Amino acid sequence: MDRPKEAWGSRLGVILAVMGSAVGLGNFLRFPGLAAQYEGGVFMIPYFVSLLVLGLPLAWVEWSLGRYGGSQGYNSTPGIYRSVWKNRLAPYCGVLAIIIPVMIYMFYVFIEGWCLAYSLRYLFGQMDLGDKPQLYENYFNAFVGWNENGTAISSPGGWPLGSAVLFTAVCFVVNFVLIYRGLAKGIEWFCRWAMPLLVVCAIVILIRVLTLGTPNPALPEQNLFNGLGYMWNIDVSGEKCWLSLCDPQMWLEASGQIFFSLSVGFGIVITYASYMKKDDDIALSSLTASAGNEFCEVALGGLIIVPAAFIFLGKEFFSKPQDTFSLGFKTLPNVFNQMPFGQMIGFLFFFLLFLAAVTSSLSMLQPAIALLEEGLGLRRRASVALLGFITAVGTALVVYFSKELTALDTLNFWVGTLCIFVLATFQVILYGWVLGVDRGFEELQRGAEIRIPRFVKFIIKYVSPTYLLVIFGLWIHQQFLTIPADPEKTWLHKIQHNGVVQLTLGFIAVVIVLFLLLIAQSVRRWRAAERAEKEAAK
Ligand code: PFF
Repeated sequence: MDRPKEAWGSRLGVILAVMGSAVGLGNFLRFPGLAAQYEGGVFMIPYFVSLLVLGLPLAWVEWSLGRYGGSQGYNSTPGIYRSVWKNRLAPYCGVLAIIIPVMIYMFYVFIEGWCLAYSLRYLFGQMDLGDKPQLYENYFNAFVGWNENGTAISSPGGWPLGSAVLFTAVCFVVNFVLIYRGLAKGIEWFCRWAMPLLVVCAIVILIRVLTLGTPNPALPEQNLFNGLGYMWNIDVSGEKCWLSLCDPQMWLEASGQIFFSLSVGFGIVITYASYMKKDDDIALSSLTASAGNEFCEVALGGLIIVPAAFIFLGKEFFSKPQDTFSLGFKTLPNVFNQMPFGQMIGFLFFFLLFLAAVTSSLSMLQPAIALLEEGLGLRRRASVALLGFITAVGTALVVYFSKELTALDTLNFWVGTLCIFVLATFQVILYGWVLGVDRGFEELQRGAEIRIPRFVKFIIKYVSPTYLLVIFGLWIHQQFLTIPADPEKTWLHKIQHNGVVQLTLGFIAVVIVLFLLLIAQSVRRWRAAERAEKEAAK
């Protein structure tokens, strides 16, 4: 098999690219939202347990599997799985590692478009909508087409806001241009300047938030320290803390957040690592990328959003249940509006989200590109065009069926949550039991600049799979087997009664079948190449 032609330009480049994939909307929107939902401090307990038991070990697993596969000449997950597991089914298991990122991309790029639009609107001073929270909600709903399907095309604010469709299209093109330029000249180049820039933006915003003090003397309770306390303190004296800790839902959400945030369990890291050289360090690189992500999430994301919302809106605000995008797109604009220098901070915040989202969405395309190029032998232009077409259809579906963001929600749940658990479990078993934890560890340690303690082997072999299976079991039980408070909100009900949900699930099935066919064709080509090699050796 030919050695892969693509390679990273430098070690820092690959670390920044993995970190770029990890740092995204999850760090600055999803994490604070979850922390606020579970009153901050308590949430950090399952969060850190999941980081230690799942996040870091699984990241090492993916880096090792990826570099191993790369050394065997493969960059696509079907190829990599095939090189590790000599079983006819192995490459087909790689389908998840391709469709998960590709289908997450289909809605992620829509949200990326919102970030770009909001940042420009701040830049041009068009985001001052008044002081009524409802106005921000109405604005968001009109912009994303929440009230009626097909209305994301209209624009509530005029230029330079444009419509959500227009901004999504711009982001779509930006991503594909960068992907077309390749690994080192596209992804690595962009991450090299976008990552430091986004950290600078976050630090400026952080300084603003940490110097807010008590902006309204008439409400002395709403001050910085109480805001930070709300995010970080654990109130062990009350019953609530212990009740939360016994709630499986919180543990599920915490481990889901770790996966989502570290981009682990998606097939991304494994693809990126396959472009490394055989003896490049992966142990420290993985740890550095994970640490960078945690810094952005906990230290930057965690210190900015919730304390800022607390200071201006008070504790009562958090007692109301919020949907996923409320905090970022409805609440924060209202908060920025009340803050001195709010317009500039608003611009920086949404610009930072935009940069973070692009570095993440780029990574979602690479696994499929790797398959199309190495499996089917397509040239860059053809692989980018084909993937562009497939993702454009999916994104159009998400953007058109915008009413209550149903298509987006369906993809997020079935692909972005359910499939990730399956794939993560598969990969950790592949490493711990098929490749063998000893061989896997040897791979991990080759060229390593740190020594990883031996107990990590035990964690990877026994603790991580058990933890994953237990969480998965609890989750299935909770989602499908318990009697829900509101039956209309269950997926079973939605599948039976909601046409958009049915259509989206049908679309997921079509994409899975399409990629299975592409993998089958790739396997045929790999086999033919291997046979030819054997013949030549005779
Ligand atoms: N890690 C990204 C974030 O925190 O926003 C999200 C993400 C990136 C999800 C890459 C999936 C993926 F394939």
